[in-house]
Amino acid sequence: MQVIIAESAQEVATLGADQVAELVQSRVDAVLGLATGSTPIALYRELIRRHRRGDLSFSGVRSFNLDEYLGLGPEHPQSYRYFMNRELFDHIDIQPENTRVPDGLGDAGTVGDEYEALIEAAGGIDLQVLGIGRNGHIGFNEPSSSLGSGTRIKTLSPDTVRDNSRFFGPDEFQPRLAITMGIGTILRARRAMLLATGAAKADAVRAMVEGPLSASCPASALQLHPRALVILDPEAASAL
Ligand code: GLP
Repeated sequence: MQVIIAESAQEVATLGADQVAELVQSRVDAVLGLATGSTPIALYRELIRRHRRGDLSFSGVRSFNLDEYLGLGPEHPQSYRYFMNRELFDHIDIQPENTRVPDGLGDAGTVGDEYEALIEAAGGIDLQVLGIGRNGHIGFNEPSSSLGSGTRIKTLSPDTVRDNSRFFGPDEFQPRLAITMGIGTILRARRAMLLATGAAKADAVRAMVEGPLSASCPASALQLHPRALVILDPEAASAL
């Protein structure tokens, strides 16, 4: 696991964008694994800036998002599909049909296997972008998730529901279930790049980088990945 401590959250985004740009410029039909949450927003803004400057085209790129809330359709403002359109896809030249987010309205019995088959048919993921939850989750792989898991339905932990409640209005339905790529799916990506910013992530980052490989910190599974890059700001790195 390679760890880079950047000077600021903005530099985390810039270094992350450099990785994405290098891949997309060397392989026009690259397959990106993408993430939601507040952390990658600065990365997406940087990619949009580079696209608008004419430096970066996504016209042949294909993408697979990590996860989606079960029960929310693509038009739902809290769905991760809606988030991705708003924060990235609507502002770059990626073909909408080349972007995939797990189907929140899909059949719970088959949606995971179908998503795995789509990833395989695309030739696998070249670079998986990740954030990290305060409890060490990646995607929605909560502590105790199997390290070999594939895409499937997961129940969100009370901590995660609480952390993400800031995005929901007081009377708004907040899903407790999600479809997420598994840890095994993430480990199959040819490269993984995890971004973390802010002091609230410091303990999870320490468990991921310095702790034992354990399902109680799902992100520690990245210790097994031959090409995992972790980019931190000084606050997220403060417990290392
Ligand atoms: C969510 C997402 C994760 C993300 C995590 C951290 O639960 N499923 O992919 O990494 O939250 O989010 P944030 O970046 O907002 O701290």
